[in-house]
Amino acid sequence: METLDGISTGRIDRLFAGIEAFVDPAFDGWTRTVFSPSYRAERSWMTEEFILAGLEDVRVDDFGNIVGILPGRYSDAKPIVIGSHTDTVERGGRFDGIVGVLGALEVAQRIKESGSVLNRPLMVIDFFGEEANPFGLTCLGSRALAGSLTVTDLERVSPEGKRLGDAMQSFGLDPSRAVSGKHPAQGSWHAYLELHIEQSSTLDQTGCNIGVVSAIAGIKRLVGRYMGQYDHAGGARMKTRKDALLAAASSALALHEFACGSPEYAVATTTHIDSLQLAQNVVPGRSELRAELRSTDSAWFGAIEKDLALRLSMRAAEFGCELDVEWFLDNEITHTDATLQETIAAASTSLGLTWTAVPSGATHDSVHMTGIAPMGMIFIPSIDGRSHCPEEFTPKKDILNGIAVLEKSVRLVDESRP
Ligand code: GLV
Ligand code: MN
Ligand code: MN
Repeated sequence: METLDGISTGRIDRLFAGIEAFVDPAFDGWTRTVFSPSYRAERSWMTEEFILAGLEDVRVDDFGNIVGILPGRYSDAKPIVIGSHTDTVERGGRFDGIVGVLGALEVAQRIKESGSVLNRPLMVIDFFGEEANPFGLTCLGSRALAGSLTVTDLERVSPEGKRLGDAMQSFGLDPSRAVSGKHPAQGSWHAYLELHIEQSSTLDQTGCNIGVVSAIAGIKRLVGRYMGQYDHAGGARMKTRKDALLAAASSALALHEFACGSPEYAVATTTHIDSLQLAQNVVPGRSELRAELRSTDSAWFGAIEKDLALRLSMRAAEFGCELDVEWFLDNEITHTDATLQETIAAASTSLGLTWTAVPSGATHDSVHMTGIAPMGMIFIPSIDGRSHCPEEFTPKKDILNGIAVLEKSVRLVDESRP
């Protein structure tokens, strides 16, 4: 069956059915977390699909990414690069990242079949481990490709006590190559384009077909360690307690109120509060809180640590506790390339699709490609804005629209002779 701009739905249907066979049965949804057996099996299948799509030089690079190339007329021209990721969060959905990789394979096949050779090589990438993981570091493959994965990062330890470097090694990757491999030089690609679901509700609410991404939110993560006093849960009177779990819970509310009070787009999410004990008859004397904050507003984002320092320590003090906060910058606010924004908008219009500029609250591999190439992102609607959950859904017609816009954008970007 053929639909918008002649895209074969049969081929896309086959790819979706194929990838959906690789899910972890221990979770609801379409779970395929980084380092899991289901992800490992899916990557073998995906490597074969890269070859079946007619890509050449298909390989896993030094950084764990699956890479293939459709040669262009001028082999020494800077490549156009398209892709995304195929790992998911626990209880994740069917489309986050996956649309961008399967869509990129379809675009490569369509260009190959059309007989009109691109001027430039087209590189397709399925980036390794984009989602947040127990080591607290997103976008492992794209970060490593860009040369920003460090030896110190390899020493990050999961709550279960495993080193990131060891997890990579057990997964068949060489961590020393991931930090010292051959990184593409700054500016060595012509353009990077990523198709992705919106994971928010602007497109679904407005009925607009395509989102032209303007900026991607910066992310700061924190671990708060609360020191109170262990006590007998029966004997210790309420007024004398130093309950570290309550201090952390109160801080979670403070983070929530802080983001709610921002006039611009800003979000705060506490994902873990742990009393670090099992006994139910002990007043928690220690606790740990993990949270993240995101925004596209540089003033708000830049002042987060300063603005929260007093608020969080006051919440701790209210419960008689001391607090130590460790901050980690996951990524800065990232702006997409203005010319590529125009290209994506022009591609959408030429296909009869409506478009609007949207910011991204989710992070993406594209953030790490900005030094290597001008970067642009194409969003398609997420029903009710839901994502990172089994209910995540994007209708087929929107996926086909996105693929058509990706292909058209690649062709427009390729038109400038190298
Ligand atoms: C990835 O999906 C993220 O935004 O954390
Ligand atoms: Mn994603
Ligand atoms: Mn995601």
